[in-house]
Amino acid sequence: MNKEIIAYEDIKTFTTRSEEFHPLNWYKQMLLNEPVSFNELSNTWHVFKYDDVKRVLSDYEHFSSEGNRTTISVKFSEDNLKENKVNFVTMDPPKNRKGRALLASAFTPRSLANWEPRIQQIATELLENLGDEELIDAVEGLSNPMPAMVMSDLLGIPSPDIAAFKNWVDILFLPYQKENQEAIEQKKSKAIQEFYTYLLPIIMQKRINPSDDIISDLIKAEVDGEKLTDQEIVEMTMAILGAGVETTSHMISTTFYSLLYDDVKLYSELRDNPDLIDAAVEEMLRYRFHMSRRDRTVKKDNQLLGVDLKKGDVVVAWMSAANMDEDMFNEPFNLNIHRPNNKKHLTFGNGPHFCLGAPLARLELKTILTAFLQRYTAIERVAAFNLENNLTDSATGQTLTSLPLKAYK
Ligand code: HEM
Repeated sequence: MNKEIIAYEDIKTFTTRSEEFHPLNWYKQMLLNEPVSFNELSNTWHVFKYDDVKRVLSDYEHFSSEGNRTTISVKFSEDNLKENKVNFVTMDPPKNRKGRALLASAFTPRSLANWEPRIQQIATELLENLGDEELIDAVEGLSNPMPAMVMSDLLGIPSPDIAAFKNWVDILFLPYQKENQEAIEQKKSKAIQEFYTYLLPIIMQKRINPSDDIISDLIKAEVDGEKLTDQEIVEMTMAILGAGVETTSHMISTTFYSLLYDDVKLYSELRDNPDLIDAAVEEMLRYRFHMSRRDRTVKKDNQLLGVDLKKGDVVVAWMSAANMDEDMFNEPFNLNIHRPNNKKHLTFGNGPHFCLGAPLARLELKTILTAFLQRYTAIERVAAFNLENNLTDSATGQTLTSLPLKAYK
């Protein structure tokens, strides 16, 4: 049995795609006038302020990740409500501990150091593929392929299979709308089946011949004497893909968009001071990442958010809006890589479900940005580019389908 999907269009409809892509006016209005509000159509609560969002994400005694309704339409398992180790994402502490610890054993600082040169190699390859053309497409050339290439490399999936692999991931990420829910559900189930059939022999082979990759780490991982079965490893892999591919693509493309359209001086500032790249990565995650919201189900009646919440109510925490809360960030609606506290953003969540892939996502953005800055002295907008025509629905919001720019060596 799967969770009931709460349709996004019932919560909020924007008049244009561009508005949804960067909904600052809406956040501003909600933060000011309706920081905790109830939406009748979807029968859900919504919170926007930094402290409230943080509380909803981390206070699992009152706000549970276990519930039978969700706003997230990414599917990675046929059996989302089944309580096995892999579904730790939808379990509260202490039940989530074992599954999270098993996956975390593949995401250690040591793994990260080991992945760095591989990610650099992928960034170099992608930039070389751009050739000597001045006109490039940052989505087609960089943000779209990079996370899928990184994930298939880190998982240890043979490179000739990357296209099929990316296709399955795209299907898992297809957004649901009310009228197409069943058709999309069938497509996703078929992709899960195909992916499973593809991956199982690879896992069996790695059991015999382990290598330096995440799947081999998952085979070795052991917590309290328990290890993962082949089926659980397939599902863990799906969970990683579901969580880490489209999000990272979005992060890379919005960063390039921001360099072109939010602050045209930033590119040369970063070229002159590469030490500022880490701060730029954090500010991009705070200011430009607008897919970040998570739901929780009220575990026991409470008034912690200043309203009467009843057991079973669904609360949606808008992390991207919390990142614009002026009680936390000074002049939040401005992009400012020099703000001292930009790392406090909630884009990767907070508390017991804090994103396991955050260091990897940061590393990917830093690596591609650094390599790009080294290769090109300047970038420029393409006058004919029309944002509205270059956005599409994705599972969590609006994503860029293309971002042409001129890049000079
Ligand atoms: C910009 C990129 C990314 C963003 C914005 C992001 C965001 C998030 C957020 C907000 C959560 C918390 C969910 C919750 O509280 O219910 C989360 C969880 C998670 N993320 Fe990420 N993520 C990103 C990239 C990645 C990558 C690259 C991976 C792995 C390769 C990954 C793996 C995970 C996993 C496994 C969880 C579940 C953790 C748990 O429930 O204990 N994420 N992510």
